[in-house]
Amino acid sequence: MNPFDFIGSKMYEFRAPQIIHFGLGCLKKVGSEAARFGKRALLVSDQSMQKAGYVAQALEQIKAGGVEAAVYDQVNAEPTDKIVDEGLRIYKDNKCDMAIALGGGSPIDAAKAIAAMATNTAKVPDFMGLNKIAKPAAPIIAIPTTAGTGSEVTRFTIITDTARDVKMLIVSDFLMPQAAIVDPLLTISMPGWVAASTAVDALTHAIESYISRKAQPLTETLALEAIRLLGTYLRRAWANPEDLEAKNYTMLASTVAGMAFSNSSVAMVHGMSRPIGACFHVAHGLSNAILLPLVMEFSCVAAPEKFADIAEAMGENIEGLTLMEAANVAVDAVRQLCDDIKIPRAIELKLKQEEFMRMAPKMAEDALASGSPGNNPRRPSKEEIIEVYGQLFK
Ligand SMILES: NC(=O)c1ccc[n+]([C@@H]2O[C@H](COP(=O)([O-])OP(=O)(O)OC[C@H]3O[C@@H](n4cnc5c(N)ncnc54)[C@H](O)[C@@H]3O)[C@@H](O)[C@H]2O)c1
Ligand SMILES: [Fe+2]
Repeated sequence: MNPFDFIGSKMYEFRAPQIIHFGLGCLKKVGSEAARFGKRALLVSDQSMQKAGYVAQALEQIKAGGVEAAVYDQVNAEPTDKIVDEGLRIYKDNKCDMAIALGGGSPIDAAKAIAAMATNTAKVPDFMGLNKIAKPAAPIIAIPTTAGTGSEVTRFTIITDTARDVKMLIVSDFLMPQAAIVDPLLTISMPGWVAASTAVDALTHAIESYISRKAQPLTETLALEAIRLLGTYLRRAWANPEDLEAKNYTMLASTVAGMAFSNSSVAMVHGMSRPIGACFHVAHGLSNAILLPLVMEFSCVAAPEKFADIAEAMGENIEGLTLMEAANVAVDAVRQLCDDIKIPRAIELKLKQEEFMRMAPKMAEDALASGSPGNNPRRPSKEEIIEVYGQLFK
């Protein structure tokens, strides 16, 4: 036998921020991190962060680090090219040297795009796709407040192109934050539905990373642990936001899942969910959550051993089951978890079936064009994607 002929014998690359600060109270690290990158920062955030007092807390720490900051706090959920342009204007007016993101995935993604625009002459839609950003972005420090997207450790940003109603996936090493500051205390104030839907986004990252055709030993290890952490702690974190142990590990799962999928890509759920977000303005976590069990059902026949691992990581007993039975247990376990944390069913979202299915062919095309469904163990055709969209209404 060839001594190099075993799973994991290939060479792999793995990208992550230069530094990740993790732990209760680590927001205070933003001052010393900012000081590494210059004298003026643009703090990119939103109105909820202002109301929660996090903007004021961050500004105090940034100032203590000897850095001045301008604030752009108008990022909306699922940011658009227009939001990025407005942020860039303030960045330039204030002659900033870095972007500091404070918020969920929306402010983090907006800050990444602003940082890329600050050093490049293109328009945001020119960045769509893989490695389309010509020059390194301005330094990015990311401080997440949802246990969700993992954007603080990914090389992605997702920005809606308002002219075409497309959620653009932009992938570039230049979008990897230099520093991630992950403070689980910041997630306590999330409303229940935000906590639930963003956590299912993290679970989707972990599951899609684990089953991705681009998975590698480093990402598999991280993804499986993220699934185990969410299976163990998510219900507690959702039911009782003051449960710091559960909040801590749910946040850890989100960041770990982010590192996993940033290096192995997501797959069919994300491919199909972005067009729902763009066309029907459903929050990212929710559009993933309604699709996740359906897509798992579609996919598990192509990689039953991986889905059996997922069932086990979620704490299910699969002893004595056939591989396919164990794989199906993973689907049931995800459905149950979503029910327990009150993720709404697709029909409760009041999507208009007729209009939705009229858009389904375009959405299927956009999903395939993003490349994500191509990472799925079972690669879907356009017709199969339309069929899965249709199952949302059953
Ligand atoms: N770049 C990536 O790698 C990546 C990965 C997944 C998703 N995304 C993108 O991230 C965006 C979604 O991000 P998200 O799910 O974190 O939601 P979000 O940032 O849109 O926030 C959702 C809502 O929750 C509020 N909120 C956030 N944190 C809060 C807190 N601690 N307390 C009170 N309110 C709080 C926000 O103000 C907002 O109203 C989408 O645009 C999605 O496409 C990016
Ligand atoms: Fe996601």
